[in-house]
Amino acid sequence: MKGTIVSPSILAADFADFGNAVKEIEAAGAKWVHMDVMDGNFVPNITFGPQLVRALRKRTRAFLDVHLMIDSPNRFIEEFAGAGADGITFHLEAELHSQRLLELIRGLGKKAGISIVPSTPVSALENILPYADLVLVMSVNPGFGGQKLIPESYDKIKQLFDIRKNKGLDFLISVDGGINESTGITAINAGADVLVMGTDFFSSNDKKGLVERLEKRSVIG
Ligand code: DX5
Ligand code: ZN
Repeated sequence: MKGTIVSPSILAADFADFGNAVKEIEAAGAKWVHMDVMDGNFVPNITFGPQLVRALRKRTRAFLDVHLMIDSPNRFIEEFAGAGADGITFHLEAELHSQRLLELIRGLGKKAGISIVPSTPVSALENILPYADLVLVMSVNPGFGGQKLIPESYDKIKQLFDIRKNKGLDFLISVDGGINESTGITAINAGADVLVMGTDFFSSNDKKGLVERLEKRSVIG
């Protein structure tokens, strides 16, 4: 039975000290670092770019889980790959030729992820699922941490879980936004493999226990 992956999001960390944020993530036993790249166009917020990936690459061996909330992500895939990203996830809504971009990411030796915002149905992904290593279900409207999870997100996770089983595919199901210990357990039971946690991780005074309790759970069935 494979366990769950907790991917703490540095969007909720101290922007003046990302080096320490990565140390905290590693000390908590998490093996992934979620990096929310935002361009102020696709989402109403601006964060950081490939330079931060390059900088954190030198600080950690953790899996750098880069989430591109940017328009025309095709412009930056090589740059993020070259900077040391391990997984690159872009938005279906931001890229007309998403199948081609997933293949490009895989061709660069990186894990290829596709994400959908709350208003996009799972059916929109149907034709490209065989080309994805990860599907990221946004359980909040992207752009900011600290929001409340949209409950319909659990149904999307379940739909993806069923499609993956029926089609014999093997992409990871990740969920991002409003994940705490309780919503995280509900998401795991719906079929999630990866939990992106920003606010709840960095505000926890027992990060190690939180990660341990969630990572030892796995989807039932
Ligand atoms: C929001 C980002 C999420 C966010 C999650 O657009 O994509 O990764 O950092 O933060 P919390 O866990 O605070 O909802
Ligand atoms: Zn994210």
